[in-house]
Amino acid sequence: MLPLITELEIRLRVSQIAEAIARDADGRGLVVVAVLKGAFMFLADLLRRLADLGLEPRVDFIRAASYGSGTRSKGQIKISLDCASPVKGRTVLLVDDIVDSGRTLSRLQRHLKAKGAARVQTCVLLDKPSRREVEFQPDYVGFEIPDRFVVGYGMDFDERYRYLPFIGILEETRGERRRRVSLNGALSQVRQPLLEHPKSAPRA
Ligand code: IMP
Ligand code: MG
Repeated sequence: MLPLITELEIRLRVSQIAEAIARDADGRGLVVVAVLKGAFMFLADLLRRLADLGLEPRVDFIRAASYGSGTRSKGQIKISLDCASPVKGRTVLLVDDIVDSGRTLSRLQRHLKAKGAARVQTCVLLDKPSRREVEFQPDYVGFEIPDRFVVGYGMDFDERYRYLPFIGILEETRGERRRRVSLNGALSQVRQPLLEHPKSAPRA
């Protein structure tokens, strides 16, 4: 697996995002709503940085599933777990790992507004702008990346690799090959089984 964004790069960028969020905070109760499962690691790091900056947000989760085939979420977005926290009149920060077609976050943003949120801002660690299928621009973006399937730091391929502390590009060839991957800042040689082409990847 080729590391695309290292642990250190993620840490620095998450701090900058937290600073931008804290600057824009309007003093009204902030509710952070994270999209399961992919956002869990980004959420945990972001919340700790927000706490360092004196913010005291509520935290909740929402889960969406898209029905369609392949890596493009052509289907409808269904909310399979709604957040339980009251959002009426509050500022909501919707947090996800990555925006691709834009369907998931635009759907969830509309949903939270319909529930009465005063303002719904969106925050993603990664953005693949070249893949957009609906008009959607997140308020806070960590990194813009090219159209490659990535894993790690919460993101999976077939429920694998979510635990990685860095973000890697999934190999597109079959077989097994030696790769250098960055773990905890140190370069180490690992035997990394390469995966099938992610075109068959299921959508979260
Ligand atoms: P969208 O609705 O097409 O914007 O899809 C967003 C969701 O697709 C994200 O929350 C991820 O779960 C998933 N996704 C999109 N691209 C990738 C990727 O490169 N790796 C892992 N998951 C991805
Ligand atoms: Mg997701």
